[in-house]
Amino acid sequence: MAADAAGLRRAAELLRQESVCAFPTETVYGLGAHAFSAKAIAEVYRLKHRPSWNPLIVHVASAADAEALAHEWPEAARLLAERFWPGPLSLVVERAHHLPASGGPATVAVRVPAHPVALALLRECGLPLAAPSANRSESISPTTAEHVIRSLPDVPLVLDGGPCRFGIESTVVDVTVSPPRLLRPGALSLRAIRDVVGALRLPGALDKGDARSPGLAHRHYAPRARLRLVDDPATLAEGADPGTVGILTHLPAVAEGAHVELLSADPLEYGADLYAALHRLDDAGVATILAQLPPEGDDWLAIHDRLTRASAS
Ligand code: TXA
Ligand code: MG
Repeated sequence: MAADAAGLRRAAELLRQESVCAFPTETVYGLGAHAFSAKAIAEVYRLKHRPSWNPLIVHVASAADAEALAHEWPEAARLLAERFWPGPLSLVVERAHHLPASGGPATVAVRVPAHPVALALLRECGLPLAAPSANRSESISPTTAEHVIRSLPDVPLVLDGGPCRFGIESTVVDVTVSPPRLLRPGALSLRAIRDVVGALRLPGALDKGDARSPGLAHRHYAPRARLRLVDDPATLAEGADPGTVGILTHLPAVAEGAHVELLSADPLEYGADLYAALHRLDDAGVATILAQLPPEGDDWLAIHDRLTRASAS
């Protein structure tokens, strides 16, 4: 549905009735629900087939609204919120005691999204909105309204805000510890975060997951096709022929063929198109995707993370 005044009104009405609706953010589309309605949250988990141990990020319209959900608002939270909100950063803080017990962690992840439709919806409904990516658990995150409808056909309403600008989920940082700790690399670069807080602790092995950020522990972001990360461009070129193999690469010279997705060598542009490219390769019906290992470096961290998870079996 168009994200105009009527669409926003209808979406807000659904949310107040403890139903759900999908909406665009600057990262990926989210499946929104009143964050403290047990009924609405249960619907999110049911539609996504999401395991109940994986907690949700709560979206709010302002830093003040986020602070109201926290038991403590550390200095790092204040600085990061001031610098990067609205924007693709989620902060894990101690959960305020007045919030309904979730049965989950004693913390809550909060963020103020930068997409005008997301902000308009938050204001229109007046509720804090839990919003995981609007896809079936473990599959590719949606960066267009059409991706949402294909992955979750039973969602009652999808507000269409066009393709997402970043196309990669928010960076998740735990500010309950000092120095703050990275839980999920994402659209906001580590460099940007370090500029504000100084040191940032990295989990020992990002790709092996971390029990403290439950969502990192498993196969995720995976296309239907089997995705294999490949270091040597020659292997890609050899794999390019059969109609059952798709290629994902940022190296123009590597391969030509029906199922080659050539992405940008710029990490921001690469990230913005990554999920859409995986969707296209799935649509093409390939059985295997050979993905060229992207360059090293902080700017590619989130992309490495998503590709590694997509290739986990
Ligand atoms: O960009 C995004 O963050 C998107 C858009 C829609 O805002 N949302 C998103 O949500 O990616 P989801 O549910 O797919 O991912 C939430 C991540 C998971 O890795 C989860 O484990 C982690 O945040 N998380 C949520 N609450 C947490 C908490 N209290 N402590 C640690 N990790 C938490
Ligand atoms: Mg997700």
